[in-house]
Amino acid sequence: MKRILITGANGQIGSELITELGGWHGHENVIGLDLQVPRHFIQRKEVGNYEIMNVMDKIGLQEIVERYDISVIYHLASLLSATGEMKPDLTWDVNLNGLKNVLDLAKKYDIQVFWPSSIAAFGPSSPRMNTPQATVLEPNTMYGVTKVAGELLCNYYFHKFNVDVRSLRYPGLISYKTLPGGGTTDYAVEIFYEAVRNKRYTCFVKPGTRLPMMYMPDAIKATVDIMDASSHKIKVRTSYNLSAISFSAEELVAEIKKHIPEFVCVYEPDFHQAIADSWPQNIDDSIARRDWGWEHDYNLAAMTEDMLKKLKN
Ligand code: SER
Repeated sequence: MKRILITGANGQIGSELITELGGWHGHENVIGLDLQVPRHFIQRKEVGNYEIMNVMDKIGLQEIVERYDISVIYHLASLLSATGEMKPDLTWDVNLNGLKNVLDLAKKYDIQVFWPSSIAAFGPSSPRMNTPQATVLEPNTMYGVTKVAGELLCNYYFHKFNVDVRSLRYPGLISYKTLPGGGTTDYAVEIFYEAVRNKRYTCFVKPGTRLPMMYMPDAIKATVDIMDASSHKIKVRTSYNLSAISFSAEELVAEIKKHIPEFVCVYEPDFHQAIADSWPQNIDDSIARRDWGWEHDYNLAAMTEDMLKKLKN
């Protein structure tokens, strides 16, 4: 029986993964960890154990690993790209020292680890179209720097200490359960909330800004699938390119308008624009598709329809 720890359990991915994994493995076997417990978690019966802790607290993490006899960690606690530019020191500490704490525990207690990288690992000198799996990684954000260093750290722990760590370079993730916070692709989530609530949105990137994106059910499927794949299939131990949809802000607006014709989007690009412009427009994930059978389900139309339906409910 697996005992699973999810750090960042309160975040955009963690809050969905905790329910999904609890359904598979038993809610009592999935332990959430975050800096705080939100009210809706306390009220939800399907959430088992929950610990309030900072991932930089290595001794505290060790105590939790021992107490619950943890065999798998989904280490999701992280600061995102826009926050990273405002708090570079904290981003370095949380994103890298937090990861190293988890990898050290994985080495000591033989724990399987999932860790998310991002399209932010790429930078202005990477090819922007069909960005290959292996290419130049010279990001110009602190978030991107922590992702590249983190990928190398994961690869090192796999080859040197046999730690079974697996990773995905997530595109921007779009979901209706929990809002992201402090990211550059957040506009593509906020726009849905505001379209439903106010029929108006002020977008912080230009209309033509095109970025790789994915609907959360696909991201959860990819995360569970890579962790369940047999070890010999996981040939990339830095992080796999992962891709589903790519659209510009104005294409997303047009798609939403098919459902809400009165919806108006105005554009006021700010500091997020430079971050978005440094990232790929779409990435080549054929290696993930070949190695462990990755396939996405949602295109822009299907995602938009489902998002609006769920948010209206
Ligand atoms: N969604 C993240 C961000 O925008 C990228 O991984 O920061």
